[in-house]
Amino acid sequence: MISQSAPEKKEPQPYRIRRAEKMDLERVMQIEHESFPTPWPYDLLAQHMCEDGFLVAEIEAMLIGYIIVGMKVPSLFSRLERRTLQLLRGEELPEPEVGHVMNIAVDPRFRRHGLGRELLRHGMDYLKNLGADEIELEVRVDNEPAIALYNQVGFEVKERICNYYSNGDDAFLMNAKVQP
Ligand SMILES: CC(C)(COP(=O)(O)OP(=O)(O)OC[C@H]1O[C@@H](n2cnc3c(N)ncnc32)[C@H](O)[C@@H]1OP(=O)(O)O)[C@@H](O)C(=O)NCCC(=O)NCCS
Repeated sequence: MISQSAPEKKEPQPYRIRRAEKMDLERVMQIEHESFPTPWPYDLLAQHMCEDGFLVAEIEAMLIGYIIVGMKVPSLFSRLERRTLQLLRGEELPEPEVGHVMNIAVDPRFRRHGLGRELLRHGMDYLKNLGADEIELEVRVDNEPAIALYNQVGFEVKERICNYYSNGDDAFLMNAKVQP
């Protein structure tokens, strides 16, 4: 059974947020396995390691959390759908730039200190600087700590996705508009 989070709120701790580096991979894998029933495989985390949207938080040089964000590439289906609507309505429909929170986790021993929120804010600022109009993410429908965090920074549930996770769990697709 994976502990989702310590229950009560604690004092903020001095932290630093920086870009992930290759040497962080083992520690990220450790937190990933402590945090998720279906952790990302090593190779997938390694693929994202050198991207600007992979950020880690550390306290006194100890890595205690991370976030992975990036811009979404519109699917062929959504581009066709938009093009069809444009033809039907005879007007241009601007394609929104959509950012994506792909992964976020904090070491269970350091939860409820405000670090998840800081990682999320940094990730959202990064996506805003890349031009995101809105940001999406998926979360297990029973992940109350994460849903509470996302609500706090402006995300709302858009739809429920059946069998989203490899173990058959459903997800909420959540969405937040980026403030100009
Ligand atoms: C979700 C997660 C990243 C939150 O990290 P955290 O550092 O503990 O969160 P914070 O301390 O920044 O909390 C920010 C807000 O989130 C909400 N929250 C976080 N944990 C909560 C909990 N256990 N119960 C209720 N609300 C919670 C609160 O609204 C909190 O604000 P507050 O402290 O002012 O009350 C962390 O619980 C985690 O790593 N979970 C496992 C991995 C995971 O589920 N990731 C999300 C995948 S979609």
